[in-house]
Amino acid sequence: MSKTEQTLSIIKPDAVERNLQDQIKQEFKNKGFDIIREKKIHISKEEAERFYKVHESKPFYNDLCAYLSSGPIIVITLQKENAVIDNRKLMGATNPRDAEEGTLRKKYGISIDKNSVHGSDSIENAKIEIEFFFNN
Ligand code: CMP
Repeated sequence: MSKTEQTLSIIKPDAVERNLQDQIKQEFKNKGFDIIREKKIHISKEEAERFYKVHESKPFYNDLCAYLSSGPIIVITLQKENAVIDNRKLMGATNPRDAEEGTLRKKYGISIDKNSVHGSDSIENAKIEIEFFFNN
């Protein structure tokens, strides 16, 4: 059964740097997402480390956190039915090389690090991630 959900999207530094935010937000709207809240921020490396704590043990953790804090990002709360899974589908595979045609990462991603967008991977993490950026 479908049900209205919220998910967190981040337009990452590589996309903001190329001024792709309006185009990407339009893609969300075209797929039926409502933008509930959004803000442009520049987080510190320590904040990025807290946000990506789940990846702490991964070899790419340090570079990932350095990257997310390297420039402005746009954090967005998206809402629609099945928002979490539908945003994952719209984003495509983590590595733009593997992403399907028409997905955001295929269209805009540069590399596995500079993959233009982040999206929550579960309803539970969506709640945590939205809280992280908007309810503090
Ligand atoms: P994101 O969806 O933001 O979640 C974690 C990020 O780590 C991921 O997108 C990628 O940009 C980045 N990353 C870098 N290397 C890897 C890797 N080998 N596997 C998965 N994610 C990676």
